[in-house]
Amino acid sequence: MELAAAIRERRSIRKFKPQDVPKSIITEILEEARWSPSWGNTQPWYLYVLTGKTLARFKEMNLQKTLAGEAISSDVPMLENWPAAIKARYVELGKVVLTVQGIKREDKEARAEYYQSMVSAFDAPCLIFACIARDNLVEYQMLDIGLITQTICLIAHDKGLGTCIMAAAARYPAEIRKITAIPDDKRIIAGIALGYPDLSFPLNNIERERAKLTEFVHWVE
Ligand SMILES: Cc1cc2nc3c(=O)[nH]c(=O)nc-3n(C[C@H](O)[C@H](O)[C@H](O)COP(=O)(O)O)c2cc1C
Repeated sequence: MELAAAIRERRSIRKFKPQDVPKSIITEILEEARWSPSWGNTQPWYLYVLTGKTLARFKEMNLQKTLAGEAISSDVPMLENWPAAIKARYVELGKVVLTVQGIKREDKEARAEYYQSMVSAFDAPCLIFACIARDNLVEYQMLDIGLITQTICLIAHDKGLGTCIMAAAARYPAEIRKITAIPDDKRIIAGIALGYPDLSFPLNNIERERAKLTEFVHWVE
């Protein structure tokens, strides 16, 4: 696949087919992704790949905590006062996500059902937790983990797989640690849901918006 096409066509997948991804393919993706750049080639990332029973336990935990209304205690602090332009884009995405599924704002039940599918990692057969060391205070490692995350998503797309980077998977790190081998000295930044995309699901085909270059590029000549 052309790189430009892969960049343009990769999209967040929010429903997966009930089909496992062979371990050999996940390994191939990670083998290639380790060539991602990082600050001073420090490669400060730690990846934890959940499948099978462990993933099922994670999904159940994340769902139950959500249903119980448990406060989010993610390793990455959630900003409360968002800049207006940023918030507007987020709100717009929320609207599109519901509209495209035919869910009305006032339909609490349907909204809850979608929300529950999200905290269950959209039924993905694989979830990769992207982590960085807690005692590494080099701020660039947050950029580095983003770089390898995007690389994983692009390679997965190239192989006909779908991904969704998910903050919603990393809300309850203490509980995630009980289920997985992720130690306390690693900060859990996000999950990457991975699997075969169900392209019949409308949300997997939405028109996505991006700002025009004039809104964020400044030529300094
Ligand atoms: C750090 C990060 C966290 C995200 N968390 C979620 C999430 O919890 N749930 C979700 O549905 N999408 C999540 N996304 C996906 C974004 O909503 C998505 O990338 C954005 O809307 C652009 O759409 P696209 O990926 O289809 O191009 C996240 C993306 C990033 C980069």
